[in-house]
Order: sequence, then structure tokens, then C-alpha cells
Amino acid sequence: MKLNSANINVMVKACRKAAKTIIRDFGEIEKLQVSVKGPGDFVTNCDKKVEKILIEELHKARPDYSIISEESGKITKNESFKWIIDPIDGTANFLHGIPHFAISIGLESNKEIICGIIYDPIKDEMFTAEKGRGSYLNNQRVRVSSRSKLKDCIIFTGGPKHNSADKELILKEYNNFSSKVLIPIRKLGSASLDMAYVAAGRCDGFWQRNLNYWDFAAGIILIKEAGGFVTDFSGKNEYIENKTILATNSKINEQMVEILK
Ligand code: IPD
Ligand code: CA
Ligand code: CA
Repeated sequence: MKLNSANINVMVKACRKAAKTIIRDFGEIEKLQVSVKGPGDFVTNCDKKVEKILIEELHKARPDYSIISEESGKITKNESFKWIIDPIDGTANFLHGIPHFAISIGLESNKEIICGIIYDPIKDEMFTAEKGRGSYLNNQRVRVSSRSKLKDCIIFTGGPKHNSADKELILKEYNNFSSKVLIPIRKLGSASLDMAYVAAGRCDGFWQRNLNYWDFAAGIILIKEAGGFVTDFSGKNEYIENKTILATNSKINEQMVEILK
């Protein structure tokens, strides 16, 4: 039986509490789809409510840790430990009533992510990892896949968001890239779950530009502890200040670097 560390227990507890609000609000979404105003504001409020619960719970347990979160920005305390929070990763899915989104929390210590949790409240799938202790899905150890031929792989990607300034890049990412290479590419709409799925061996790689730290912080440790690689597109540099992510099962890393050049 896996024994969680104290920090992972704190993260699990916060996620479980916040998930109750997400599940309740997700149940309301269907009704709002048909309302004149639509579910937009309701979803924004849900994001904020969920983040508030997470921050309260994490702060209660670790009052001196700093926080970076998507909705509230920075709370600066002891800079040696920072929670990196995305309350709902996959908001567009949530908004459309598509049950594929997650809470994502990473714990950074001295510029390195040392713990991560990605929780899909609808499927009740909890991905956790801690430095040196492996990667888990609902307390069962997970490993990255061993596929090495791109034609046998599934690769995830996402965005960039439609409001990105670089229209050419958007068109390239949306339309042309997949026709250049013979690999099945999927866009499921939640970067954190994309990374959790690489860690669990469900898919073989993930790349994306223009991410925010909270989209991928937890995913980094999950993939590394499951035996995979997380770098920028050069395949060399570690990612932490970098919004460009290439995450793979390690076997296809060089091939992906070539493709993304
Ligand atoms: C988004 C999702 C999406 C990715 C976007 C992110 P959000 O996060 O992770 O998959 O393609 O770049 O911004 O806005 O739903 O928290
Ligand atoms: Ca996000
Ligand atoms: Ca979000």
C-alpha cells in the first residue's frame, strides 16, 4: 500500500473538498446552456469559488507557503515553497458540459516541482507524484508507455488560445501540423490531464506552446516520476521559466524534437 507524504495528503484533502463544488456546479451547466445569458459568468464564478477553497485549505495546512494561482495571482510568503494552482484546467470543456477537466496543484521548492496532483473529479481519477517516490493513479503506480514508433503513438496537444496575437502560429497549430506527420494527434482540452495521461501511459507524448505555469507544474513531476521526459522543444532545457512544453515517454523524445523544429 502506498503511503502518502504529509504534503500529498494536504493536496488530496484540498482537492476532494474543492471537487464537491465543481461536481455540483457542473450539474447546473446543462440547464445554463439553453439560457439566454449562457453559462459564461457562472463558470467564471465556479473557477473563483474552487480556487478560494483550494487556497483556504492549503493555507490552513501550510500557512507559510507562497501561492501562484490562475485567478488570484501571487501570494508571497516563504519563497522556498510555492503552491502552483489551476482550479479548473479545461474550462472550455466545463463550459460546454464536456466532462473532461481537472484541478491541478504543483508544489515548487527552490525552482523545482517536488509534488503534484491532478484530479479529474468526474471520473474520480487522482494522479499524484512526489520527487523520488513514483507516480500514482488512485494509489496504483503508473509508468509511461514504451512505444517507440511514432505511427503506433497517440500524441496530445492543445491551444494556442484564439486570442493569441500570433495568427499564423494559430493556423499552423490548428490546421497544418497534423498533416505534416503521420501520427495520431488528439486535442482533449485540458493540458494537465494530457500530461497526466502521458504519465499513466495512456498516450505517448504532449506538446504545446504558450502555456502558463499552472497548466503544467503538476504534470512535470507526474511524468518525470513515471519515467518520462519534460523539456522545451529543443529536448534539452528544463521548462520551468518556459511556456513551451514537450513531454514524452522518453522513447520518442528525439523524434518529437525533430518534428517540432
Ligand atoms: C487551458 C487548457 C487547454 C490548453 C490551454 C489552457 P484553462 O487551460 O489546459 O487544454 O490548450 O492552453 O489555457 O484555461 O482551461 O485553465
Ligand atoms: Ca489551465
Ligand atoms: Ca483554469
